[in-house]
Amino acid sequence: MFLTEDEEAMLAGDKGEGVRTAMELLVALGDIYEAKRLLPIASAHLSGVSYKTIGEGGIEFLERLSKDAKVTVPTTLNPAGMDRQRWKEMGISPRFADRQLHIIDRYERLGVTTDCSCTPYLGTNVPRKGEVLAWAESNALSFANSVIGARTNREGGPGALAAAIVGRTPEYGLHLDENRAPAAVIDVELGSVDYSLLGQAVGPVVGGRVPYFRGIRPTIDQLKTLSAAMAAAGSVGMFHVEGVTPEAAGRDLSGLERIGIGDAEIEAARQRVDTGKDPELIALGCPHLSVEEIRGLAAKLKGRKRKGDAEVWFCTSRCTVSKCPREVEILSRFGKVVCDTCMVVTPIEERFSTTATDSGKACSYLPTLCSQKVVYRTTDGLLEMIS
Ligand code: F3S
Repeated sequence: MFLTEDEEAMLAGDKGEGVRTAMELLVALGDIYEAKRLLPIASAHLSGVSYKTIGEGGIEFLERLSKDAKVTVPTTLNPAGMDRQRWKEMGISPRFADRQLHIIDRYERLGVTTDCSCTPYLGTNVPRKGEVLAWAESNALSFANSVIGARTNREGGPGALAAAIVGRTPEYGLHLDENRAPAAVIDVELGSVDYSLLGQAVGPVVGGRVPYFRGIRPTIDQLKTLSAAMAAAGSVGMFHVEGVTPEAAGRDLSGLERIGIGDAEIEAARQRVDTGKDPELIALGCPHLSVEEIRGLAAKLKGRKRKGDAEVWFCTSRCTVSKCPREVEILSRFGKVVCDTCMVVTPIEERFSTTATDSGKACSYLPTLCSQKVVYRTTDGLLEMIS
């Protein structure tokens, strides 16, 4: 990979050990993927925040980088392993809380904005069309590529952090026009569309390819749901929706594989993910709830009574909560509005064995990362369980 004089100097350690480590990582990535050069980035979004997922090894890596390096572009952070203010109510142990706060402190030292949300594109880190990014967090990067038309690869946590420090990322994958072209056409023939199950049906079939949807008109929140579900059930980093997403127009679809999605495929996906009954935890907000979603939930719950004794969580960000305090108050009568975290990256397995969700992404991760049986319901189905 070609390096400029400035980049060579960073690699030689002229700007400190942290920058040298970050450059080494980027050069290794560039060599693996045969990138020709590094591209300047407009922003970064980092995963690898929860103590549950990164452990002591991750802390060591952060210690090393935060000694003498800082991020050089606007950089945001994914959910952590607990709500920073309500961790005791979540049943988190003091030791876990201590290590988690230490991790967030290291990110702060690096200059990262610590709103701890997987939907930075809704408030704290909003990219523009055509911008080059280094984003980890699969739902966020897929949304940025597909819905906004920015450009990022499926970064891992360390790669995104290295890019944030250097301010550059290797040019390969979804940074190149040819890799953003559709590879399969998805013809959706459904009366009403459940976007979590649509993502669960399409993800495994397309894998890491770029699907082009026809026959759907999703809202922004539904695109958020679809991005998350397909990225988790497959490894989709970008998709197009005819007449909706910015890079769909004028695509040549001739010769592409055609995949039909109807009631049978959706029902098969539902049966695959819905494996439990009698949930102990009912969790909404994967990806984190938007202001509009919180308003919609509050409107439905207003005037209803809480029922059942399952724990209920509404997962969102502090930035979002600050924009709709009255609706958050209504939700709080039915469960905990938790910030900074989510049902997957906090250690729910220490308290619960069955979790109900309306999220296609959570359906993929709750069994694997949290040892949970999953009850899948639509959002309205979950509201029926609690009110
Ligand atoms: Fe976000 Fe957690 Fe889901 S990070 S996308 S709420 S698994």
